[in-house]
Amino acid sequence: MNDSPSFEPSKAGVVGQPVNRVDGLAKVTGRAHYAAEYDLPGLTYAALKTSTIAKGRIKSIDTAAALREPGVLAVFTHENLPKMAQTPNTLAGKYAIYGMHMGYMPMTGNEVFYAAQPVAVVVADTFERATQAAALVQVTYEEARPVASYQSANAEVFDPNGQGFVFDLKKVTRGNPGAALAASAVQVKATYVHALNHHNPMEPGATIAHWEAPDRVTVYDSTQAVAMSQSSLATVLGLPQEQVRVITKFIGGGFGCKFNLWPHTVLATLAAKAVGRPVKLVLTRPQMFTSLGHREDQEQTITLGATKEGKLTALIHEKTSTTSPWDIFAEPNAAILNWLYACPSYQSSHRVARANVMTSTYMRAPGESPGSVAMECGLDELAAKLHLDPLEIRLRNYADVDPGTGQPWSSKGLKECYARGAKLFGWSKRNPQPGATRDGRLLVGWGMATASYPVRPAQGRARVRLYADGHALVQTSATDLGTGTYTVITQVAADALGLPMQNVRFELGDSTLPTAPASGSSVAAATVSSSVYLAVQDVWQRLTALAVRDSQSPLFRAKPEDVQREQGRLVLRQDPSKGETFDALLQRQGLADIEGVGNSKSGEGYEADQIAFDNKPGTKQTKRSMYSFGAHFCEVKVDPDLGTVRVTRWVSVMDGGRILNPKTARSQIIGGSIMGIGAALMEGTNRDEQFARYTNADLAGYHVPINADIPDMRVEFIDGHDPYVNAMGVKGIGEVAMVGSVAAVANAVYHATGKPVRRFPIVPSTVL
Ligand code: MOS
Repeated sequence: MNDSPSFEPSKAGVVGQPVNRVDGLAKVTGRAHYAAEYDLPGLTYAALKTSTIAKGRIKSIDTAAALREPGVLAVFTHENLPKMAQTPNTLAGKYAIYGMHMGYMPMTGNEVFYAAQPVAVVVADTFERATQAAALVQVTYEEARPVASYQSANAEVFDPNGQGFVFDLKKVTRGNPGAALAASAVQVKATYVHALNHHNPMEPGATIAHWEAPDRVTVYDSTQAVAMSQSSLATVLGLPQEQVRVITKFIGGGFGCKFNLWPHTVLATLAAKAVGRPVKLVLTRPQMFTSLGHREDQEQTITLGATKEGKLTALIHEKTSTTSPWDIFAEPNAAILNWLYACPSYQSSHRVARANVMTSTYMRAPGESPGSVAMECGLDELAAKLHLDPLEIRLRNYADVDPGTGQPWSSKGLKECYARGAKLFGWSKRNPQPGATRDGRLLVGWGMATASYPVRPAQGRARVRLYADGHALVQTSATDLGTGTYTVITQVAADALGLPMQNVRFELGDSTLPTAPASGSSVAAATVSSSVYLAVQDVWQRLTALAVRDSQSPLFRAKPEDVQREQGRLVLRQDPSKGETFDALLQRQGLADIEGVGNSKSGEGYEADQIAFDNKPGTKQTKRSMYSFGAHFCEVKVDPDLGTVRVTRWVSVMDGGRILNPKTARSQIIGGSIMGIGAALMEGTNRDEQFARYTNADLAGYHVPINADIPDMRVEFIDGHDPYVNAMGVKGIGEVAMVGSVAAVANAVYHATGKPVRRFPIVPSTVL
């Protein structure tokens, strides 16, 4: 039997092939059901009424006019919302409901902490009637002066001192950065200011809650994390986890804003129980800006010390950002600075200020994306000071081992990414002089940046049922954000089973299926593919066990380790003519099918198992640092009169370990790069200083790149074999795609104009 824990691709296999999406037809013909698209009998509609103030309390709330409207079933306010078994409003509650990111549940009292906080939920028989009635709910407030952001005059900035949620935000020091900086031949110090960003997936947050019995609920929800939503909802509702079912078959994008359980899902579920009918709640686009978190507004200062050859000696990072009234949350920008380049000393610290805003959350490469802006833009300023090429300074600081831990890498194809990217882009023809390259009237700039993202530890299960008729059903509770999970997992299962793809159906997005981690932190493809691969190994082992005990089998009394798989047959290693097909074996055993389960670990947990597996007496146990890597190259053209910037060329070369499908993988890299171009040139949510309300909370005011903003993009992957990360050797590509992409644009603009970029998004007034 195949006792290797690692996948070996076969020549005829589909893993690594640019296969079209298996769910593509269902999506373009409307047969793919998103969370809001289940037509349940008796379905009702909820609409949110939200606060017009950002701080204060509700003095009175009058629902009489709303209740008089035709078709209105109920209006819930803080005065009559059904009680929850647990809320996140206390620290104990917040940790008990781990998946509920925000430490405050709206409508649990009369206090208002942020603008557009839900204050009432109206349920009616149609969407239009619910929306109309919500407008008729009369609220009077006692208003207090809000704090808009960390930059406000009335903000109190403080050191969270290790008290952060999820990320502890402790000061971290390695070596002696102060002394190293003082002794360094050359220094750079720069502060970068970043606007608040919103995820803005195409599909808004949406929930249908359906109580199938007084103590059993099914929730169709647009969530990246089916299993975590299930356990968090169960805690809020005081139900056993088994009595809460979460279904998410398709998602129209998330980028981190659908990682957690947010208040609107809880409100819809409570309302459905109270009205005794299924309730659908779909957030409006403006409500998307105040319901699912955001990337916090922030500034970061980087201080670099280097030798005159451009080798880094000191690296100091300080960040200040806005957090909410209850939580201390900030994305950890500096983490990436501790592994990206070889530097003997390092320090990072955070400061936060509470403001009247909901809690910020994970947004594609949380921490790594903005952190890499400070690192990569700072490095280009250093390169300019030393008259070094930007790529050359990166090679001079190349980290052969993880500088933060001293550990070897599990794999690192970054040098290949640099070399291939530079060749595809034509980097060697770059004019070193900033502001000196023109295309007619336009200034031309070339910039590049490094990308990297951890292979985060994760674990999950899958089940594979192989039928005697040669078809298979593969199941996990994982989700497909739209990134291609359905497709790549079907490829892996087909190869491992030796079946054509059309004989394999992969089912996901249901908490009743084997528990898989969220589509988040770039762990989905790695963990799910590995668990499916291991589940298939379990199927083969079970078949072998049946065969060697079956007196009618040609493999009777063979040693299980001598049985191997060959084109759907089980055969004897020593004599492959001896064997039989799995369907013949199953039929003789009176079995219609056989099931296997696989539990995969990815990242550090898998490494621990690998060490146990490989550990022969006298071998040294080596812990490895596990990261995806890559490089982005960007050309911009800047109008020197108008200050407008256009991206005109783009090249990304990535090392994500094994690439399961280069077509869906390319789309991930394009998507992440475009998100970076958006953050660099357009995206920013503005909060009014006096009222602490967003002034551009819709897609007319919050600009994202459209097709006309994006050139043809060249994406390649280097062959990144990694035997240490997980059974499939997949490192993940969803988040690494965005890391470095903001900086590549900024560095190109710097090269075009000769003026370093210090503020994002880059708008005409800051270019000229
Ligand atoms: Mo990702 S920001 O964990 O969806």
